[in-house]
Amino acid sequence: MERIDVQLGQRSYPIFIGSGLLSCGDSLINTSLPRRVLLISNDVVAPLYLDAATALLQRCGCQVDHCVLPDGEQHKTLDTLNLIYTKALQLSLGRDCAFVALGGGVIGDMVGYAAASYQRGVAFIQIPTTLLAQVDSSVGGKTAVNHPLGKNMIGAFHQPSLVLMDIDTLNTLPAREFSAGMAEVIKYGILWDADFFCWLERHRGALLAHDGDAISCAIQRCCQIKAEVVAEDETERGVRALLNLGHTFGHAIEAEQGYGSWLHGEAVATGMVLAAKLAQQLQWLDGAQVARIESLLACFGLPLNPPPEMGLTQFLPHMQRDKKAQNGQIRLILPTAIGHSKVVSDVSTDQLAQLFV
Ligand code: NAD
Ligand code: GLY
Repeated sequence: MERIDVQLGQRSYPIFIGSGLLSCGDSLINTSLPRRVLLISNDVVAPLYLDAATALLQRCGCQVDHCVLPDGEQHKTLDTLNLIYTKALQLSLGRDCAFVALGGGVIGDMVGYAAASYQRGVAFIQIPTTLLAQVDSSVGGKTAVNHPLGKNMIGAFHQPSLVLMDIDTLNTLPAREFSAGMAEVIKYGILWDADFFCWLERHRGALLAHDGDAISCAIQRCCQIKAEVVAEDETERGVRALLNLGHTFGHAIEAEQGYGSWLHGEAVATGMVLAAKLAQQLQWLDGAQVARIESLLACFGLPLNPPPEMGLTQFLPHMQRDKKAQNGQIRLILPTAIGHSKVVSDVSTDQLAQLFV
């Protein structure tokens, strides 16, 4: 079992990463956990892990109630959020309860926002069960739901008090979802850590074979990077924006195609290729570096090209609404080399148009 701490003063919290933590992680759960817990999952994850998570929380002395939501990115909405509020109110849960998210990034983001807003804020615990959620979304306190006009447009920063990752849950994850998680793993190598990118190139076979040790190492490195970045810039005033590499393009694909059609990680993979090609236009990356990025993404079966029907006309409105945009000016994260990236706000429409010829 590995422990990584997100250092945020009084809101610091541990991330525990290991095998079998759902069945034997009792000692990791802080004894100051609220007595009343609402355990929230979806109708795919609940049949697999709700009993184990309930038993774990009960062994820690909690009274556990459940809320099982419909599965899927298309349900990451205010309407679904209302199901959580209704359940909590029906149970007369007060501010001294905790909401526990059991599932992937969709459940984690929704439960986090419910926790941020229910009675102006209750405690929140993440038990992420997808690779994407374990390497990215369960850490750092970004919570949100989608709006038909934009991805994650309604949300808040609300840090969990604990993140418990049982890597055994990945054994039931569909292959396509595993690949989507690998996009976010590769993202850290491109934007932050060249050595990690090389490690991923060397261990691609082990990762493709779902080797537990390789997966565990990758999750740990991603969480270390994320913890470091979040500790430095919790609310994305600066360096945290880099974690959005590929996302401005990716969110446009997700929104334009209808949420759930392209997986988030797939859209981010294509977004990172577009960012890399833009960086090549600016002569920051050479063709060989772009090819290495494409090759690593492709070996996990990730898409490298946007949907054929999407050109600049389709991308631009979404990109202008992106949360990083300032005064209508699009801001993009671009790699300046493998392992380094920066925020760029002076990319012209002509330069963007070149990506789609
Ligand atoms: P997801 O939550 O939809 O999970 C993917 C699918 O796998 C779902 O059908 C889910 O029910 C199923 N599943 C989950 N765990 C499983 C398991 N162990 N076995 C079998 N099936 C399982 O998608 P995701 O990729 O985990 O998360 C994507 C979401 O995360 C997007 O909404 C994205 O915006 C968000 N996100 C948030 C942040 C953040 O910082 N908050 C970062 C990255 C992504
Ligand atoms: N996933 C990007 C962030 O947490 O900032």
